[in-house]
Amino acid sequence: MRIAIGSDHAGFDYKEIVKKHLQEKGFEVIDKGTFSKESVDYPVYGEAVGRAVAEGEADRGIVICGTGIGISIAANKVKGVRAALCTNEYMARMSRKHNNANVLSFGARVLGIDVALGIVDVFLSTDFEGGRHERRVNLIMDIEKK
Ligand code: RB5
Repeated sequence: MRIAIGSDHAGFDYKEIVKKHLQEKGFEVIDKGTFSKESVDYPVYGEAVGRAVAEGEADRGIVICGTGIGISIAANKVKGVRAALCTNEYMARMSRKHNNANVLSFGARVLGIDVALGIVDVFLSTDFEGGRHERRVNLIMDIEKK
């Protein structure tokens, strides 16, 4: 599985840890930046990861900023993206099972790193349930066509 990852300066340290964690597990990680702790603008990285997923360069995306809020809003502006801001493993699990989320977002200033890594692992190992949830996800995607 190919994972696109991106963060702003606030999420940079967590991005590096998540990247290493995923590479050790055998995932291919596509790093869309940022590449230092110098102050940058989170929408740039949310869009870059969103486009990588929407255009098929990556299977899933992970975006990290201070709260996870701004970068998830930015990623969700890319057509085809369903970015889920998660603060615990239950939310990560349900974002996959019910919402077929293709981008995970979290806040480096909100979560401890061990909690964040647990969320990442659940997000990447949980399948979409389909069924009645497929109809609802399709209704979400229809909004993009209006
Ligand atoms: C950066 O200071 C901060 O605003 C950003 O990381 C994020 O939390 C925005 O939603």
